[in-house]
Amino acid sequence: MPDLSVRIGGLTLANPVMPASGTFGPELGEVFDLDRLGALVTKSVTPEPRRGNPTPRVAETGQGLLNSIGIPGKGIEAWIAYDLPVWRRFAAPLVVSLSAPTASAFAEAARALTVEGVAAIEANISCPNLEADGRAFAAEPGPAAAAIAAMRGATRLPIWAKLSPNTGDAAAVARACEEAGADALVVANTILGLAIDLATLRPALGAGMGGYSGPGFKPIALRLVWQCAQAVRIPVIGCGGIATGQDAVEFLAAGATAVQVGTASFIQPAAMLQVIEGISAFCTARGFSRVSDLTGIALPSLQRIAAE
Ligand SMILES: Cc1cc2nc3c(=O)[nH]c(=O)nc-3n(C[C@H](O)[C@H](O)[C@H](O)COP(=O)(O)O)c2cc1C
Repeated sequence: MPDLSVRIGGLTLANPVMPASGTFGPELGEVFDLDRLGALVTKSVTPEPRRGNPTPRVAETGQGLLNSIGIPGKGIEAWIAYDLPVWRRFAAPLVVSLSAPTASAFAEAARALTVEGVAAIEANISCPNLEADGRAFAAEPGPAAAAIAAMRGATRLPIWAKLSPNTGDAAAVARACEEAGADALVVANTILGLAIDLATLRPALGAGMGGYSGPGFKPIALRLVWQCAQAVRIPVIGCGGIATGQDAVEFLAAGATAVQVGTASFIQPAAMLQVIEGISAFCTARGFSRVSDLTGIALPSLQRIAAE
C-alpha cells in the first residue's frame, strides 16, 4: 500500500484528494464516508448574505458544464453559527472557501474564520473586486497580492489562493500570491464561456456568460498547473476536469501536490473515492512507494535534475 499522505503548507493530509469548492456539501456524507477524503472544502462563504444570479444557473455544454451561480449564501456570521457546527462533525481537515468584494473585506472575514475547526482558508480571488470596476482580483498580480496580503495580516491559518484561468499571465499572479504570503495555490477556477439556447436564441444562462468546468477544461487547467508549479515554491493543488485516478496522476506529474474534484461528483457522487483508489493503484503498478514522489515528475526542471 503506497503512502498517500501529502504536506500542504503546514497541513498533513491523509491523501491528496479533496472536493472543489461549490460542488460539494456535507449531505454527500449520506453517500460515502467523507473522512476518507484528504480534506473537505466548502462552497465559497461571503461576508454578507447574497441572493445569487438569475436562473438558469447551470447548462450542460460540450464536454462540460457552464455555471453562473453567483455565490448565494447566508453570510459569514450565520455560516459560522449554523454551518460550521455541521462541518465540525467530520475529522478530515476543513478548508473554508472565502469570497469578498474588497481586500479589506477579505481580511475581516479571514479574521472571523480564524476559529477552532477551520484548518485553512481558500481565497476565491476569482470573484469581482469592487475597487477595480468589478474585474476579478485574480486577473492581475497586484489586486491578487493585495487580497492575499490583507488576509495574511489578519489570520494565522494557512491561506490557499485559488487562481483564475481568466488572466493573461497566471504564473505572474501565482508568484505575486506566493510573495504576499499564500501557503498554497489552487489552480484553477472555471474559465469564462458561453452557451446559446437554440430554442430561445438567448444565452443558456440567466447571467449570460458563465464558468466552464469538467473534462473539456482539463488540458487548460493542466497547462496552468504546469506553468504555476514552475513559477513558485509553495504547493500547487490541481483542479479542472479531474474524474479518475489517471486524470489526477497527470496533474501530480505536472507539478500538483494534491487535487480537487468538482464537476465529476455531479455525475458520480463517489467519484473522489475512485480517484483515491485510482492514484493508489497507479502507484502500486508503477512502483511509487509515496504519492509525493509523483509531484512534478514531468516538469522540465525535475527531468534535468534526474538526468544529472
Ligand atoms: C456548480 C459549481 C459551483 C461552483 N462554486 C464555486 C464556489 O463557490 N467557489 C469557488 O471557488 N469555485 C466554485 N466552482 C469552481 C470549482 O470549484 C472548480 O474550480 C471548477 O469547477 C473546475 O473543476 P472541475 O472541472 O473539476 O469542476 C464551482 C463550480 C461549479 C461547477
